[in-house]
Amino acid sequence: MKNLKAERELSLDFLRVCEAAAIESAKTMGQGDRKYSDHVAVEAMREVMDTVPMRGRIVIGEGERDEAPMLYIGEEVGGGGYSDEVRESFPEIDIAVDPLEGTNLCAVGANNAIAVLAAAERGGLLNAPDIYMDKIVVGPSCRGAVDIDASVKDNLKNIARRLGRDVDDLTVICLDRSRHKQIIDEVRAAGARIRLISDGDLSAGIAAAVAGTNIHALMGIGGAPEGVITAAAMKCLNGEIQAKLVFDPERLGVDKSKVPPAGVVIKRLKKMGIENLDKVYDTNDLAPGRKIIFAATGVTDGSLLRGVRFFGAGKRTHSVVMTTEPKSIRFVDTVHVEGGPDVVIRF
Ligand code: FBP
Repeated sequence: MKNLKAERELSLDFLRVCEAAAIESAKTMGQGDRKYSDHVAVEAMREVMDTVPMRGRIVIGEGERDEAPMLYIGEEVGGGGYSDEVRESFPEIDIAVDPLEGTNLCAVGANNAIAVLAAAERGGLLNAPDIYMDKIVVGPSCRGAVDIDASVKDNLKNIARRLGRDVDDLTVICLDRSRHKQIIDEVRAAGARIRLISDGDLSAGIAAAVAGTNIHALMGIGGAPEGVITAAAMKCLNGEIQAKLVFDPERLGVDKSKVPPAGVVIKRLKKMGIENLDKVYDTNDLAPGRKIIFAATGVTDGSLLRGVRFFGAGKRTHSVVMTTEPKSIRFVDTVHVEGGPDVVIRF
């Protein structure tokens, strides 16, 4: 009972953390400066994170300690303002953060930028390197029906069978990148439809796992950190992600000079304990935790969440908070009132 209460309270604390990051980055929407938008989201997230009663540790964050002043991997967060003795009683939590997922989307005011994090008990989230990851994400009805090593055609056939519809009735969502030419060609050849997006494969993965969005699968290569946070969401939504790490410049369709040499990446992966470079990661490999918390707040309007709205005496945010224990999905519409007693609240 005590644990359930603690979990519920922590999830509301993480909601505050995402709301703060979303509000600050939303203020910069359309300014064309994605780095600045990200910077203010990180600062706001870090500040509120420190007030959470936990012994938190960042496992996926803004980079290594020497390149990121805040929310760097390994940074200890939370428990600020409490005595060491009280802090000792707080739960140990691992946290994966993406203070602004879709920095470009925010910079140009496009849809689906979110502030997001996932948390779990210690060891509950894979400490994934900041490289690329090939992913396939589907919803609960298609769990066990897809295989990242199978052809696009076979995966679509199996998804269609599970959903009781034809392949032409399916929509695949995919980042619009030259590296996805083959996937796009194969989806088209199979007769399914595609939604190409400029950025934001994390919220796209969530859309693929939720019925009613008319998105039936996410396919393609995006960030590995986003893959881990997607896996945390899948644990809450009963969806499935399969993934493989990718660092071969040819597969990524980028100039060799744009990515660290393969030898350097392999050495780093080995240091992190990743020996099998071809391993297929499933949802549980990426987010093995039993007590997962996922929180996200819309920065700009999106298919799942509305963006931050500003009015004279406050702001309004729209978020989703999901937990595995107890299994719950809450949509939270918060009015942050800033004015005095005469402020009119509109529903
Ligand atoms: P940022 O928010 O860090 O800009 O990431 C946006 C994003 O589109 C992710 O959703 C995706 O996983 C990744 O970038 C893809 O990377 P790239 O733009 O290099 O193809």
